[in-house]
Amino acid sequence: MKLSKMIIAGFASVSMLIGMAACGGGTATRGSSNGSGTSIKKGDTIGISMPTKADQRWNVDGSNLKSDLQKAGFKVILSYANNSPSQQSTDINNLVSAGAKAIVVASVDGTAVGPAVNQAKAAGNIVIAYDRLIMNSDSVDYYVTFNLERTGILEADHIIDKLNLKNGGCKPTACNIELFTGSDDDNNAPYFFKGAWNLLQPYFKSGQLKDPSNHGGGITASFTNSDWKKISVHAWDQNTAQSQMDAIMSQAYSHGEKLSAVLSPYDAISQGVINSIKSHRPDMIPGTDSWPVITGQDGMDIAIHNIYWGMQGQTVFKNVALLASQTTKIISTLSNGRKPSGFGGTMNNGKMNVPSYFEKSQELTKSNLHTEVEVGFITEAQYQKDIQK
Ligand code: BGC
Repeated sequence: MKLSKMIIAGFASVSMLIGMAACGGGTATRGSSNGSGTSIKKGDTIGISMPTKADQRWNVDGSNLKSDLQKAGFKVILSYANNSPSQQSTDINNLVSAGAKAIVVASVDGTAVGPAVNQAKAAGNIVIAYDRLIMNSDSVDYYVTFNLERTGILEADHIIDKLNLKNGGCKPTACNIELFTGSDDDNNAPYFFKGAWNLLQPYFKSGQLKDPSNHGGGITASFTNSDWKKISVHAWDQNTAQSQMDAIMSQAYSHGEKLSAVLSPYDAISQGVINSIKSHRPDMIPGTDSWPVITGQDGMDIAIHNIYWGMQGQTVFKNVALLASQTTKIISTLSNGRKPSGFGGTMNNGKMNVPSYFEKSQELTKSNLHTEVEVGFITEAQYQKDIQK
């Protein structure tokens, strides 16, 4: 008797499981991709946690997300973490307490944010990693970003082109180059570097490029992609980049040595580099051959200025409106009782493969800088302000 009761009970729970799995397969109220039973509907609150207001792009990201989600019929709470991992955890906890049903997180520190995100997930939230992947957590439902290696590829190609490396430039005397990577706590940074280093390393091997400074303990042809943290700029901070460049300039360029190129992964890092070069070497004149080729990323106002006036060669522009609309599409699809589709692939965060969308970035140089106005990233008035001397 006892045994048969157990069998019936066991059978009942198995069929419950089967029933739940079937629901998770895309019927009306099951919002989450992993079948956690989250429901989300129009009118619900979406919590957005952005890293900082100090960088231009995150302000644009935040306001795009807010207006797209509101237009799609959701309420929105938008918070900024002042680049502090602990503040971001507090922000996420607050979003959950305020009743958010989904959270969109551009992390300050992709690993440190894990516990807060796990709690949000446990409270029933859909979790979307925005631009930066949330690491070592099994609570991430979706990831929306740009093709990461492409940033480095566009930057390296610009340097290769300007130094004419494919056609024997920097021979027989190697050209001097300095290299920087992004923040050590940002999973994007190694991908950016990988894209660039895969293209630049062969020229270290051929003897066309060399790094004469001791930056990061010295960069030679045997430097590898996994060494990227040695040349990182914590928190993508302009002042940190500037002091690192100051050390490089004093050490390797204080006797008139030529600096041909600087691989910079972000416009504010480029600004730190530019400030340092200007103060150490007034004989290097922007827009002439004495000035190095300097790269960047994000299409910030400072980059428009620097590119226009010959201080920076290019920037990798990310039309972040695409990320906001992709994020809104995911949330709307879930609220309509369907499963999002059309992923570009998955990204492994150390714990799981996260379904991911990859948007395409684009290189801007002096000839197409105005694109930022055309796609609505900045206004014409802002552009005119940016290009003033
Ligand atoms: C973003 C870049 C940005 C950098 C600094 C990265 O995670 O992908 O677009 O330049 O952070 O904010």
